[in-house]
Amino acid sequence: MTDGAVHLEAIDLDQLAAKLGMPIYAYSSAAIVESYRSFATAVGEDVSICFAVKANGNLTILTQLAKLGCGMDIVSGGELERALAAGVSPLRIIFSGVGKTREEITQALDAGIHQFNVESASELDLIADVATGRSVRAPVALRVNPDVDALTHDKISTGRKGDKFGIDLDHAYELYARAAATASLNPVGLAVHIGSQIMDLEPYRRAYTRIAKLAQQLRAGGYPVRRLDLGGGLGISYGHATPPSLDSYASVIRDTVGGLCAELAVEPGRRLIGEAGILLAQVLHIKPTHDADIVVIDAAMNDLARPALYGSLHPVTMLRPRPGPARPCRIVGPVCESADAFGLYTHLPALLPGDRIAFLYAGAYGAAMASTYNARPLVPEVLVDGSRYAIIRRRQTVAEMMALEADPRWRDMKLSDRSDLGAISA
Ligand code: LLP
Repeated sequence: MTDGAVHLEAIDLDQLAAKLGMPIYAYSSAAIVESYRSFATAVGEDVSICFAVKANGNLTILTQLAKLGCGMDIVSGGELERALAAGVSPLRIIFSGVGKTREEITQALDAGIHQFNVESASELDLIADVATGRSVRAPVALRVNPDVDALTHDKISTGRKGDKFGIDLDHAYELYARAAATASLNPVGLAVHIGSQIMDLEPYRRAYTRIAKLAQQLRAGGYPVRRLDLGGGLGISYGHATPPSLDSYASVIRDTVGGLCAELAVEPGRRLIGEAGILLAQVLHIKPTHDADIVVIDAAMNDLARPALYGSLHPVTMLRPRPGPARPCRIVGPVCESADAFGLYTHLPALLPGDRIAFLYAGAYGAAMASTYNARPLVPEVLVDGSRYAIIRRRQTVAEMMALEADPRWRDMKLSDRSDLGAISA
């Protein structure tokens, strides 16, 4: 724009931030539509896209994706409720995750979801037991650990031997056979997910090739393997690297599992929503030091945890860019620990209290991972559509936070008083 202002669609972000207050997440509706459509076009109609709700579970965003035809990949009973509330058909819901509880399995069976991705023999037995009790057959896919290094951050790698995820490749055949022999289970296929923020397609190729081989072995043994769930994990740029193109990812799918005549699904999270969102914040204080200014802003690790957790560097831009010599700065939040730091930036002019900034590429695992640490209310979210905006999660109040807590009413454990149980499980 000619005035140098930074816009999200047709909205001047400095004005929006001034109006709504900070910190706040803002998403571009058009960017969400665009990333979903590009993904769908690249992989083709035959591949079902199930958005990983964990990346961003806001109901408005889930509803928007569902209207575009997207299914959902969930990992908890809470995410199931969110997906259903967003109008997603249970037949488009896949339940992933390494630690499903009896209650969650019951909830998902009753909802009639498409598939459970099972991660252990113990979980398989639990699903069988719950399904028997409800006189249904549970559709299960085995999530296999293919022992492939996704070449990404250690904390978001999931497909190496020894990672907590998936069933060891060597045990998968036997477990599939066990599922097939269990009346309350309907083994429908295999699943794999090797990690997140993956920037190299070779690990996908290796993992999918191993899954394809296992599928063929199972079929040769008389076990139908109708579905293959290829997981998520495709990376985005974060401003400093080029991620694999959607077309080249789609070619890997075609080359490895395309010939198996299986129903294919993918579970992207970050690639669908990461680039569509930003976090707006305001500079509070400047503390000059010998080598860089420490810039204290009003957003913190409780609002955007990725830098503290994974050392991620989200590009920053000023909402009213100002010319001037660059001055290195370390941007930090107000939370009382040194982990509350967003990183060292060397491209910005000297920042001043009151300046408003945006962290880019914050649509995935941003608001979704926010907490109330330091009694900071959950960060609000706003959706932009052309020159309109809508608040899609309002700012939480401290009173709402405190409302969950109560003055202690002591109970004697030896007495069988069950009146508190509802309050705890609610
Ligand atoms: N499917 C399964 C089974 C998953 O565990 C995940 C992510 C996905 C799909 C989606 O992956 P994506 O396409 O979004 O990479 N908090 C971390 C990322 C954790 C990813 C966990 N699982 C971060 O901020 O980088």
